[in-house]
Amino acid sequence: MKRSVLLALFIVFWIGLGAPAASLAEGDPGADTAPAPNVVTGDPAAGKALFDANCSSCHGVSGMGDGPVGAALTPAPRDFTLAAFAFDADQNGTPGDDRDLVLVIQNGAMKYGGSPLMAPWPTLTDDQVMDVVAHIRSMKTDETLETEADALEEPSAS
Ligand code: HEC
Repeated sequence: MKRSVLLALFIVFWIGLGAPAASLAEGDPGADTAPAPNVVTGDPAAGKALFDANCSSCHGVSGMGDGPVGAALTPAPRDFTLAAFAFDADQNGTPGDDRDLVLVIQNGAMKYGGSPLMAPWPTLTDDQVMDVVAHIRSMKTDETLETEADALEEPSAS
């Protein structure tokens, strides 16, 4: 009896401490461990350092695809300030999900019908790829947001 009370108290405290949230985030063993679409938990600041070092030669520090190498490429590197992405790497019907970007960065664009110039990046760890994706997301400009807002404000067929 006393034991089960203690156990109950322990469970209550454990829940109170947020342990279930942590274990949920880590996923149950049967679950797909790939990041769910559009919930990248990367660190954009760490991602910026990685991006500037590895990606900016093509994509440009600003992400506009205007790096010294990228400016001459056909197709042009994706302009990240527009946040319009081409590949639906996980084939869920929505191109440009976080998971799509992760897969394109890890496996290269050619695997998904794109240019071999966007090469695979096996040297980046999963966490580093998440950081880079978080940084790419942060490059979307206000202008893009405004354009989208305008589009939303346009009256629908009446
Ligand atoms: C040698 C030049 C080059 C480098 C370096 C490069 N990219 Fe790219 N990247 C490209 C090109 C070109 C494309 C467009 C590919 C296409 O349209 O087929 C692209 C496309 C992309 C896309 C768009 C995917 C989509 O669905 O539209 C992402 C994301 C991306 N690159 C991320 C990165 C990251 C992150 C790095 C650094 C780790 C990187 N790239 C380094 C050339 C480069």
